[in-house]
Amino acid sequence: MDVKVKQGRIEREPAEVLVLTHHEGEAALNEDAIAVDRALHGALRDLLKSEEFQGKSNQTVLLHTHRRIQAKRVLLVGLGKKKDARLDTIRQAMATAAKRARQAGARSFVTPIHGRTLPRASTIELAQVMTEGAILGNYEFTVYRSNHADEMKALQHFTVVEPHAESVPDITQGVRQGRVSAEATAYVRDLCNHPSNVMTPARIAAEAKKIGKERGVRVKILEQRDAEQLGMGAFLGVARGSHEPPKFIILEYQGNGRKGGSDRNAKPIVLVGKTITFDTGGISLKPAENMEQMKADMTGGAEVLATVRAAARLRLPLHLIGILPATENMPGGRAIKPGDIVKTLSGKTVEVQNTDAEGRLILADGLAYATRYKPSVIIDVATLTGACAVALGQFAIGMLGNDDAVKSRIEKAGLKAGERVWEMPLWDEYFEQLRSDVADMRNIGGRGGGMITAALFLSKFVGDYPWVHLDIASTDWSERERPYIAKGPTGTGTRLLVQYLLDQAHAQSH
Ligand code: BES
Ligand code: MN
Ligand code: ZN
Repeated sequence: MDVKVKQGRIEREPAEVLVLTHHEGEAALNEDAIAVDRALHGALRDLLKSEEFQGKSNQTVLLHTHRRIQAKRVLLVGLGKKKDARLDTIRQAMATAAKRARQAGARSFVTPIHGRTLPRASTIELAQVMTEGAILGNYEFTVYRSNHADEMKALQHFTVVEPHAESVPDITQGVRQGRVSAEATAYVRDLCNHPSNVMTPARIAAEAKKIGKERGVRVKILEQRDAEQLGMGAFLGVARGSHEPPKFIILEYQGNGRKGGSDRNAKPIVLVGKTITFDTGGISLKPAENMEQMKADMTGGAEVLATVRAAARLRLPLHLIGILPATENMPGGRAIKPGDIVKTLSGKTVEVQNTDAEGRLILADGLAYATRYKPSVIIDVATLTGACAVALGQFAIGMLGNDDAVKSRIEKAGLKAGERVWEMPLWDEYFEQLRSDVADMRNIGGRGGGMITAALFLSKFVGDYPWVHLDIASTDWSERERPYIAKGPTGTGTRLLVQYLLDQAHAQSH
């Protein structure tokens, strides 16, 4: 979808669909709606009076304008009660608008800036969340549907119309940020929607190479032999059961010192993403029910790819590394078996009591590799534990880490992105659950605190570097379609990471 910003008056704008919003319980229309209402001889006021439309959140009404204004139709979207409104309300409203406009057969829609009455929301933020909603509400994965040509057409154009020239630059910046971060999420959803027979470790490596064409990005792929030479016994242990060659993928984006500045050697931010292209559980085989969802066990890796791409597209003045240990987890004849011991890149040994706890094995080597960059911070993202989904349900990402400052920055970014995190304790007491009789540790923690013991396991591989772990097994897959969250793979966490980088870049320059 292409997104434009235009200076002008909304009631004079030619359009297939013009989008307005209204809060529940407000007697008066907002300023934009008043201007349109006047041109429509009071049609919107009559609608409110009829109580057919109350402005409940994501409620919609579509009116034909009978050529009284340039726009063919007006779409009114409810924002719910004013006191409950957040940035996310606006994001959802635009997603709802996109879906409704598309249902009406429209290919384009126009809108003024919404949410001006929200406390503490800047114009940049409003334009960003509106664009995110519009793009993500319109998301659909159709690659393998042969009769797609006959189906509903996707929206092509989204235009934000603003009367005041002095606001146009901020809106333009917000729209650009929103477009890049929403397209990052859509890219993650695409990668996760592709089945595992297509989205293999080799295909993920090819995607990384494509991202290597962005300005400032370099990509290196370590093959199985390279990983052997380095001693990545945990990563290779997981890969042993599969016929698909594993790939250990490294992306580096250098956006620092573009103007010959001196901070090209600034310590990088390192992102590590769990990239299991399919998780059967291995010899500790998973039950058949819902196993197809394990094609999305590479969401973490996809989010890292998308975030590096977004940083490059936004030309953020940051030094960023992305690491993706990519492999299948299969029960092949050479697969690791319960009780096997692997030696990790860090030198620590792990007794593999359950081959289905494979994410922490590949991340052990991914995180140890990350420390080689002497990073300013390491953030890993992983569909790591079913326990995360049990504890948090669908609406919070699990967060654990060793650095309060980084955790609070992540929390803020999550709040802004509408991808909120919830912290769990990373106390060393839990480590007794990971003790092994024969190795330095075992890869499962037994009953209780599954999200915590998994994170504690990871913590043993990050040295003393500031580190935050995001368990996205809770938010990764949605059973239903929501305004801007697709059914199936959601890509949740991507916009949080992009927002974190935007905030970091902003903090640096001030
Ligand atoms: N990829 C799964 C976790 C998962 C489960 C993600 C459901 C999304 C939805 C992970 O590799 C796994 O199998 N974890 C095990 C760990 C256990 C064996 C300690 C789990 O959660 O059951
Ligand atoms: Mn598993
Ligand atoms: Zn897994």
